[in-house]
Amino acid sequence: MTDRTAELTIGDQQLELPIIEPTIGNDGLGISSLRNITGDVTFDPGFANTAGTRSSITYINGAEGILRHRGYSIEDLALNAEFLEVAYLLLFGELPNQQQLAEWNSGIAGHALVKEEMKRFFDAFPNNAHPMAIMASATNAISTFYEEYHDPSDEEAVIESAIRLIAKMPTIAAWSYKKSMGMPYNYPRSELDYVENFLHMMFHLPTEETKVDPVIARALNVLFILHADHEQNCSTAMVRGVGSSRANLFTSVAAGISALWGPLHGGANQQVIEMLKTIVEDPEEDAQSMIARAKDPDDPFKLMGFGHRVYKNHDPRAIVLRTYADDVLATVGVSDPLLEVAKELEQAALQDDYFIERKLFPNVDFYSGIIFRALGFPSRMFTVLFSIGRVPGWIAQWKEMTEDPETRIMRPRQIYVGKVERDFVRLADR
Ligand code: SDX
Repeated sequence: MTDRTAELTIGDQQLELPIIEPTIGNDGLGISSLRNITGDVTFDPGFANTAGTRSSITYINGAEGILRHRGYSIEDLALNAEFLEVAYLLLFGELPNQQQLAEWNSGIAGHALVKEEMKRFFDAFPNNAHPMAIMASATNAISTFYEEYHDPSDEEAVIESAIRLIAKMPTIAAWSYKKSMGMPYNYPRSELDYVENFLHMMFHLPTEETKVDPVIARALNVLFILHADHEQNCSTAMVRGVGSSRANLFTSVAAGISALWGPLHGGANQQVIEMLKTIVEDPEEDAQSMIARAKDPDDPFKLMGFGHRVYKNHDPRAIVLRTYADDVLATVGVSDPLLEVAKELEQAALQDDYFIERKLFPNVDFYSGIIFRALGFPSRMFTVLFSIGRVPGWIAQWKEMTEDPETRIMRPRQIYVGKVERDFVRLADR
């Protein structure tokens, strides 16, 4: 703790604001007393400069392109760990030993099935339902089977909820895909690991033997790790916000899925592929025309997969993914014109003053879709894949929030700019 303060002068009032010190990263100005003393509030649309919590889970240095989970670099984790190992690290703060990991994996594998009644739930959706709509709905739906685990203050119940969410997300995702294809649902198999099971449930046909390509499983393991957590991003803030009202973990995660769906957030990975396809398929479009549109202040178009609220340097995940894309496509024997177009677009943008001045670099969504595509996933499943990866991060952040004595129900203030006061006018007189 520090006794450092910052001086704030408002009119004839002098305030001393406490400085909140991190272990690394930005200091914070404690403004909790501001409104009581001055009647003023701060104004920070999107909370771009406002910390709502202390956290020990993920550290990002946007200027240097650094991402660490519990102190371990994303590069080390992506290249050396299993996804469920990283999930354990995010939730419990330490990498598991062999026994802890074996128990964790076994606990999750034992809950991969969803209740059979859920088939009627999936059948109720139209075949062309977007799988993110199904994911958000199904996450709330499965909570109805586990009301005994809803109490956020019951530590064991929170872990039981966490295990069921991590275990069942791949099953819900795969079933939403099978539903959209009019194909039979596959059940998880006990001889397969977490990622292999997801691939089995996604792509197995009852007319064939179960076979999962270990190369594809390894690639997906890396991709899930790269998406696992990202401090106080939009969807995580929503998970924390819903949970701050003491709502249960399932419905808090469902709120995160809804926020992630947006094209400015996790939905960008699907939009990137649509953008690259347009360049490949439309002779009128190329990298320069896309960049021109992105720069046009009168055109709402944004170069999808570019820019970031925090990274003003390369997103380290995008760097891993760019290299990995070449390896995965070569290994699975896929050559995708979209990859070459993506690299051309990246080079063109990084040499353009508009992007240089605004420090706009490729983010995690710029290359992830190309790899997902090479692994055989349809683009409408890309944000679902992002959500499977992000579930452990959402849970870890929600758990930290519920255990934090500083947590208060999320309730931001506003600057009111509407009509001050008016007398009611009867309908007959309007
Ligand atoms: C994710 O927060 C996270 O951590 C998210 C995430 C995670 O892991 O959870 O990293 C995952 O969501 C990655 C982002 C995916 N979204 C996209 O790729 C969509 C395209 N990107 C933009 O919409 C934008 O960059 C955001 C939404 C990502 C960030 O928006 P900000 O922080 O509000 O930045 P901004 O809109 O204020 O941009 C600053 C300037 C503006 O220009 P000026 O008004 O100063 O002239 O940069 C411009 C913007 O117009 N700009 C872009 C741009 N991104 C920003 N211009 C063209 N194309 C872009 N992609």
